[in-house]
Amino acid sequence: MPDSSPSLSVPHGSINEDTIHALVHGFYGKAMADPLLGPIFAREVPAELWPHHLEKMCAFWSSTLLKSGRYHGRPLPPHLALPELDDRLFGRWLQLFKETLSEVFVAEDAASTIALAERIAHSFRLARAFHEGRDSTGLRMLKA
Ligand code: HEM
Repeated sequence: MPDSSPSLSVPHGSINEDTIHALVHGFYGKAMADPLLGPIFAREVPAELWPHHLEKMCAFWSSTLLKSGRYHGRPLPPHLALPELDDRLFGRWLQLFKETLSEVFVAEDAASTIALAERIAHSFRLARAFHEGRDSTGLRMLKA
C-alpha cells in the first residue's frame, strides 16, 4: 500500500536552492517582525552575523530537503541554550514557517516540509525536557 504520510513523500518539484532561499529569507523577515520571536533573534544574532545565519539556514534546509550535504553544523545546541524557549514560541515559529511555506512551495511540498519541521521542533522540545530533568513522556508534538 502506498504510504500516504506527507512527511515521507518525495519533493513535488517546487523545492530547489532558489525557493529554499526565498523560504529562509521570507521566514526570517516575518520572524524578525514578530513581537514574540523578533526580540530573541535580535538579541542572539548580532547584525553583522545575519548574512552568515541566513546562509547557514539555507544550507540546513538544502541538506534536509534536497540531501545536498551543504550543512555541517549541530542544530540542537542553540535550542538548548535559550532559556525562554517554550511551547508558545515553538508554536509561533511553526505558524510563521507554515505561512512562508505556503508562499514559496506548492501545497504538497509545503505539507511535507511543515511535517518535517514539526518533527524537528518536537525533537528540540524532547531534548530540552531531558536536559532540564523534566518528564517528557507526555509531551505531544506541536502542530503548526
Ligand atoms: C522558538 C523557536 C526557535 C527559536 C527562537 C530559534 C532560535 C535560534 C537561534 C537564536 C539560533 C542561533 C543563531 C545562530 O547562531 O546563527 C538558531 C539556530 C538554528 N536553528 Fe533555531 N530556533 C527556533 C526553532 C527552530 C526550529 C523549529 C528549527 C528547525 C526546524 C530550527 C533550526 C535551526 C538551525 C538549523 C540552526 C543553526 C544551528 C547551527 O548550526 O549553529 N530552529 N535558532
